[in-house]
Amino acid sequence: MKEQINQIQTLEELQALHTATFGKNGTMTARLRDMKNLDNDARAALNKENAELRELFKTRQADIEYAVMMAKLQTQKLDVTLSPEPEHVGRLHPLTQALAEISGILESFGYNLWTGPEIEDDWHNFTALNTPAHHPARDMQDTFFLPNGNVMRTQTSAIQIRAMEKCGVPIKMFGIGATYRKEMDATHSPMFHQIEGLYVDKNVTMSDLIGDVRAFLQRFFEMDNVELRIRPSYFPFTEPSIEIDMKWHGDKWLEIMGAGMVHPDVLRNCGVDPDVYQGFAFGFGWDRLAMLKYNLSDIRKFYDGDIRWLQANGF
Ligand code: DAH
Repeated sequence: MKEQINQIQTLEELQALHTATFGKNGTMTARLRDMKNLDNDARAALNKENAELRELFKTRQADIEYAVMMAKLQTQKLDVTLSPEPEHVGRLHPLTQALAEISGILESFGYNLWTGPEIEDDWHNFTALNTPAHHPARDMQDTFFLPNGNVMRTQTSAIQIRAMEKCGVPIKMFGIGATYRKEMDATHSPMFHQIEGLYVDKNVTMSDLIGDVRAFLQRFFEMDNVELRIRPSYFPFTEPSIEIDMKWHGDKWLEIMGAGMVHPDVLRNCGVDPDVYQGFAFGFGWDRLAMLKYNLSDIRKFYDGDIRWLQANGF
């Protein structure tokens, strides 16, 4: 038997012999079954034989497996010097990178992130923002209307209404998302992104607004000091309304965002008493801020999915 086991060269044959020996109808199984008829010495001898055989099978199995592996190593060769297929490692899109930074900064100031639907109803996109039907300010935005009267959200300002309706005040939130307008050139895309901030509480003032905007821009553009220019402006949902420009590369003024103190009617539309609460809101182009930071010139390129453009610009 021992000799026989050691002659076997394949795992299949070894398995067959193992079954014939230890299986249900195996020879050893039968002998063990009859062990009760043996005297003590014969029993001890059988137990020993059984244990030795099992051990032998194990050793033989390991030897065969080793031999099989060695044979494979002899015949199959892996050429580790062959150059691999070029791999394109995915990266975060520049807009996603910018958003991570913007969110991180605003969250550190205590603003909470909100989103809202891109198909918006008239109330949230216009009416609650103090822009009722036939209000001339509706012309400020070239709106995509849907047949049922809804619109493609033209401004993330709609999110501030949803946030106040849902959570009331005091509130410190920022809304992010895609916005849509009928316009298209190097600096305008029919789909673009905005970020909106809102802070309503007792005793919130315009200087809180300017302080937060200044701190935000300094951190986002990694500048020790930003020079701001505050210009009076008009938005239906803020009073007074301002536009904030930033000095860029020491000589140019860039318009960065619209902002203002939330109009009392907007607060009333959200069930907030404007005699007790005041607040500010601001809104800016998320794409535009990313273009400035990463020195990009054509907003449409963000949406082309062109890896060559991304790589050429270091993304
Ligand atoms: N929604 C304005 C726009 O799309 C931007 C804006 C201006 C947002 C003033 C505001 C704000 O929250 O207070 O042009």
